[in-house]
Amino acid sequence: MVRMVDLIEKKQKKEALTTAEVQWMIQAFTADEIPDYQMSAMLMAIYFNGMTEEELRDLTMAMVESGDQIDLSEIKGTKVDKHSTGGVGDTTTLVLAPLVASVGVPVPKMSGRGLGHTGGTLDKLESITGFHIEITEDEFTALVNKNKLALVGQTGNLTPADKKIYALRDVTSTVGSIPLIASSIMSKKIASGADAMVLDVKVGTGAFMKSIKEAEKLAQTMVNIGNSVGRDTMAVISDMSQPLGEAIGNALEVKEAIATLKGEGPADLTELSLVLGSQMAYLGGVGADLAEARRLLEENIQNGKALEKFKVFIEAQGGNPEVIDRPDELLPKAAYQVEVKAERAGVVSAMEAEELGIAGMLLGAGRETVDSELDLAAGLMLHKKIGDKVAAGDVLVTIYSNKEEVTPSIEKIQENITISDQAAPVQLIHEIIH
Ligand code: URA
Ligand code: CA
Repeated sequence: MVRMVDLIEKKQKKEALTTAEVQWMIQAFTADEIPDYQMSAMLMAIYFNGMTEEELRDLTMAMVESGDQIDLSEIKGTKVDKHSTGGVGDTTTLVLAPLVASVGVPVPKMSGRGLGHTGGTLDKLESITGFHIEITEDEFTALVNKNKLALVGQTGNLTPADKKIYALRDVTSTVGSIPLIASSIMSKKIASGADAMVLDVKVGTGAFMKSIKEAEKLAQTMVNIGNSVGRDTMAVISDMSQPLGEAIGNALEVKEAIATLKGEGPADLTELSLVLGSQMAYLGGVGADLAEARRLLEENIQNGKALEKFKVFIEAQGGNPEVIDRPDELLPKAAYQVEVKAERAGVVSAMEAEELGIAGMLLGAGRETVDSELDLAAGLMLHKKIGDKVAAGDVLVTIYSNKEEVTPSIEKIQENITISDQAAPVQLIHEIIH
C-alpha cells in the first residue's frame, strides 16, 4: 500500500515519484483522503527539490483527470488557446481573439470574471450594451464553426485538484515554485480542450516572474509539459515592467482593442498582439512559418477584416455592433476626468505596473474581492510611457471615475511614475520559445 508519508520522504531525498505514485496522490488528495498537512509538506518538498520532466507530465495529467474535461471535438480545425501569466491593462485577448479568427483559426473562448487589477475578458465585453454569454453548448459550437469565434462562460468542474492545491500553496508560501505554477496553468489549459497553446510569460515588476531567467525557466517548463502530452506549445517572454498599451479599465480597454484592430492602437500592444497572434495562427495551421502568419494578420488589420470579425462576434452574442464605429458615444462614460501632471521635466524612467493597476482598481476598474462591484467606465489612460520626454505640467495620466473623490488613486499614480534625467529602454519581447 502507498503511504503519503513515504512519498514525502522520497521527494525530500530528491527522488522522483513514479507515475502511479503521482496519480494515487492527486486522486486521493482530491477525494479528501490525504490531509492538508501532508500535502503541505509535499508541496514544500517540491518547492525545494523540484520535479523531473516525467513527474511534471504525470502531475499535470493527474490534475487534468481530477475533474471534467471540455470536449471541443465538434469544432472543426485546430483549437489554439492563449494564456498570459497575468499583466496589467493587458488588452491582448480582446485584440487576439478576432484577429486570429479573421485568418480562419477557430477561437472557442471560455472566460471567467477577473480578480484584481482589471476585469476579465468577459467583464470588459459586458461594457458593450446587450453582449452576453448565456448561450448553450450547441450554440457555442455552431457560432465557432460559423464565425470562428465565440465566448462562453466557464462551466463544469475543471481541475478540482489544482483548486485544492492552490488554496494550500497560498497559505504555505509555495505559490512561487516553477514546477507548481507550470503544472497548475497547463492542467487548466489542457482540461479546457485546447489542441495547441501559446503562452505569454510576463516578466518585470508587474509580473509573477521578476527576472528574465526565472521567466525563461517557467516558459520552458510549460512548453515541455505541453509538448510531452501532444499539445503543440510555444511561449513568448514579454515585458511587464510597465502596463501594456495605454488603457487600464474595462470600457477603456474595449476602445483600445477597437483602435488596435484598426491599426491605430499603441505600438507595444500592437506588436505583442502580432507576435502572439502569429504563433496562434501558425499552430492553427495558417501560414508556412511565423513570418507568413504575421503577414496575414497585418493584412487583415489593413483591410478591415479583423475589425469586421470583432463586429460580427459582438452582434452574434447580442451586443450592439455599432460600438465598433462609435465607441466614444456608445461605451459607458465616467462622470469625472482628472488629470495627473508631471511635477518636473525629464524622461519617464519607471511606471510600476502592478501599483498602477491598483490605482485603477481603487476606482472600480478591478475587483478587490470576488464580491466587489465593477465600474466598467472607470480606469486610467496613460499618456506617457517609459522613455517618453516630459515637461513640467504635462499630463501623465487621465483618471476616469464615477466617484468624485480620487485622491488615493492620484497618490498611487504620483508615487509610481518616476521622472529622471534619463531612462533605460524597455525591451517588449525578450524571447520566443518553441
Ligand atoms: N496561475 C495559475 O493558474 N497557477 C499558478 O500556480 C500561478 C498562476
Ligand atoms: Ca491596455
